[in-house]
Amino acid sequence: MAPLLANASAPRALIDALRAEIDAHNFRYYVLDAPSISDAAFDQLLRELHAIEAAHPEWITADSPTQRVGSPTYTTSFAPVTHAMPMLSLDNAFSEAEWDAFAARAQERLGQSTPLVFAAEPKFDGLAINLTYREGLLVQAATRGDGQTGEDVTLNVRSIANIPQALQSARANLIEVRGEVVLTHAAFAALNTAAQAAGEKKFVNPRNAAAGSLRQKDPRITAQRQLQFFAYGLGAVAGIPQPDSQLALLDWLAAQGFTVSPHRQRCDDRAAVLAYYHAMQARRSTLDYDIDGVVFKVNARAEQEALGFVARAPRWAIAYKFPAEEAVSQVQSVDFQVGRTGALTPVARITPVFVGGVTVANITLHNMDEITRKNIHIGDFVTVRRAGDVIPEIVAVLPERRPPNATIISLPETCPVCGSQVLRVENEAIARCSGGLFCPAQRREAIKHFASRKALNIDGLGDKWVELLLEHRLIAHVDDLFTLTVPQLLTLPRMGEKSAQNLVEAIEAAKNTTLPRFLYALGVREVGEVTASALASHFAALDPLLNASLDDLQTVPDVGPIVAQHVHTFLRQPHNIEVMNNLIDAGVHWPPPAPKAATLPLTGHTYVLTGTLSTLTREEAAARLQALGAKTSSSVSAKTTAVIAGEAAGSKLAKAQTLGVPVLDEAGLLNLLESPPA
Ligand code: IVH
Repeated sequence: MAPLLANASAPRALIDALRAEIDAHNFRYYVLDAPSISDAAFDQLLRELHAIEAAHPEWITADSPTQRVGSPTYTTSFAPVTHAMPMLSLDNAFSEAEWDAFAARAQERLGQSTPLVFAAEPKFDGLAINLTYREGLLVQAATRGDGQTGEDVTLNVRSIANIPQALQSARANLIEVRGEVVLTHAAFAALNTAAQAAGEKKFVNPRNAAAGSLRQKDPRITAQRQLQFFAYGLGAVAGIPQPDSQLALLDWLAAQGFTVSPHRQRCDDRAAVLAYYHAMQARRSTLDYDIDGVVFKVNARAEQEALGFVARAPRWAIAYKFPAEEAVSQVQSVDFQVGRTGALTPVARITPVFVGGVTVANITLHNMDEITRKNIHIGDFVTVRRAGDVIPEIVAVLPERRPPNATIISLPETCPVCGSQVLRVENEAIARCSGGLFCPAQRREAIKHFASRKALNIDGLGDKWVELLLEHRLIAHVDDLFTLTVPQLLTLPRMGEKSAQNLVEAIEAAKNTTLPRFLYALGVREVGEVTASALASHFAALDPLLNASLDDLQTVPDVGPIVAQHVHTFLRQPHNIEVMNNLIDAGVHWPPPAPKAATLPLTGHTYVLTGTLSTLTREEAAARLQALGAKTSSSVSAKTTAVIAGEAAGSKLAKAQTLGVPVLDEAGLLNLLESPPA
């Protein structure tokens, strides 16, 4: 673990600084509802303090943050409420081993051989409240506070829509219902949008927003916040028997009008417990409220009672937490990676840290603007976030922990790979190596791109292969791929006949491609899949595209002056022309342009045939007109293009004359069929 303060001289000074820092965070969290660091970062500070106190027990004081549960009691304007039954905390497990230890302890303590059954529920990341019902009516609501004494938030809680003012049927003398108040992601987003519009401070996360909402002076404001309550337990109860298991209790709460988790589940064995944990972890990002783990409770009430409590947590329940999505680490150095288009991307190398279930050591910083905006220095302690499968990011620097020797990150003047000058267009976030295909990094990335799935899709030619082929100088440019042979590939280390054969076959198969893929594969700047398709369908073939002027290019949908310039420049560089020719000579091909589904010469025209023709039947005449796109009809109207009148034409000819529809004789028809209008 990195030291808290790089310049702390003595552990004694460190412990005081640490306690002061933790107290300050507690105050921001509990009173201001505006924490400045993540829970994980806070926990880490607390663990550091624990570690020092473990080494120096003589320094432990009663007011140390390690000696308190939950929030310290700060003076506020809400009346204190002493809980009839303390509101307890839960022990945490962070691994299967810790779960096993918990289950084994409980099993052993009960001293029975039948395996325990557990009730599983999400661990809501909101704030715990206690609701007091007397004779079935809600009379008081209180926050957890320090577990013994909370705050009276009755008025505000009455405004939460899914909290019943009266129980459905239970009319006992006293029933305390406990659960968690949460704010949905949708409501949280709306709240922050409104706060921003009003120029107010935004909330850091839904839980703090929920806490802030519950502690509003004006219950009408709380009502607008759309808080939700999930019930999961009972406090003090007098006058009715309690359900005999946790799952029965949840059903009972639902029957009394409470929302309970639809994800509650009975787990009969270890496999079911672990499956539930993983299933909820996978479901986490789809829920509209935050959860930070799952809670397993021994299901049977009799067994819960037999197990009892230790200090501040029951022995019959445990919170199996998801891996923290945020952690604190230190920036060791920053490297610049060169991409396909020469863009330099700063990548922070951090002290490896376990976050979101994986160890993270490298984090992209995207560009220099991001570094400036986040004010990141080498040596800084930073909050690292990795949620779900999202790529890890540095959320923020912890300014109070910046070591005195922290250094500014600056953009290199020359490319770290090829030494060419680095250029940064004014007002553009991105800096680029000016080396083009001279730069080995750009060449390597260009080849990877060329072979990638949406480009030529050379099956099996992954990044590792490309690097190997370049390293052993079997290829230098994309066109070299098509001259690779099996014997050549067999010169590579650990290369088998079969793999070599497969690769050569995949390259052969990739020759049969499409124009959009080919254009995309070239890797022209700003030409992604969509633009490549637009260019292909506009020009239909490569040659017209090669000859297109800047103006021609801009007539293509979505191609503006910048893209047009990139395409134009690329297609005129001798090197690029050579590569394209080599590719085509090697056999890369695509289907010729489909004949234009052009409209036929008589499309939109309608003819009526009448009378007897001498050189062809009426049916033949109709078929030949239709082949030219015309329609034929048996009745004349003002929309008829012309009536074709043979010998002995009758009423249709007369109608044409009255309507002023043109009339053609047989010679006119033959002339129309021979040379239809263009
Ligand atoms: S049961 C005696 N069930 O987690 C058992 N707690 O870290 C008391 N929490 O104080 C709690 N979801 O605020 C229980 N399904 C759940 C919960 C839950 C969230 C909170 C609760 C508790 C804290 C302990």
